[in-house]
Amino acid sequence: MFIVLIGPPGAGKGTQCKRLVECLQIPHLSTGSILRAAVRNGTEIGKAAAENMSAGKLVPDGVITEIVRLRLSEPDCENGCLFDGFPRTEPQAETLETELEKRGNKLAAVVQLVVAEEEILDRLSGRQRADDSPVVVRDRLKGFHAITDQLKRFYEAEGLLNQVDGMGTPDQVFERIQKIIDPRR
Ligand code: AP5
Ligand code: MG
Repeated sequence: MFIVLIGPPGAGKGTQCKRLVECLQIPHLSTGSILRAAVRNGTEIGKAAAENMSAGKLVPDGVITEIVRLRLSEPDCENGCLFDGFPRTEPQAETLETELEKRGNKLAAVVQLVVAEEEILDRLSGRQRADDSPVVVRDRLKGFHAITDQLKRFYEAEGLLNQVDGMGTPDQVFERIQKIIDPRR
């Protein structure tokens, strides 16, 4: 089962994916985590991404789709995975569709976590990540809003978009997500 989680920074994508990994037994593919590891390890991808990430900007589509293509070709993704923070743009969504089609797969659902901006600022101020400074968070949020409508329309047209209230405790949010995922298993 291939599932996409989208939502602004701090929406709880990573938090919910950890729970979903356990219940669905499929891997978690977070482009943000892969990029952070690449930056830490000083790889070519890390070098190409570091500047954009620390400024709260998107990393170019070409870099992202290469990462995803590589990760998807690993055997543990054969029966599905959870895409966290990918796709973020329409070209990325199109690439994902093509890559899954090549493998004879398709997306089962897209879950959009909806969280109020005040709550996001509150959540991220409690973390210690390099891109969580108030100035960079504001830019990450601006970037998110600018591109999300396009992505929403893309998945709405495909009948895949499910908006989920991301406010409340992680357990409450997880229950809401399960109601969407369970009937499709
Ligand atoms: P990425 O790593 O994807 O970061 P993000 O989307 O900005 O989101 P976060 O990871 O900050 O938030 P989250 O939704 O995972 O929330 P979390 O569960 O951690 O991307 C980072 C950067 O990489 C981007 O800015 C970009 O530069 C680049 N990038 C990545 N993918 C890309 C792509 N596809 N294209 C281009 N560039 C890309 O929760 C946040 C906090 O809130 C935690 O402390 C958590 O404990 C807490 N929390 C979670 N849920 C709740 C709850 N229900 N109640 C209270 N607290 C909660
Ligand atoms: Mg995350």
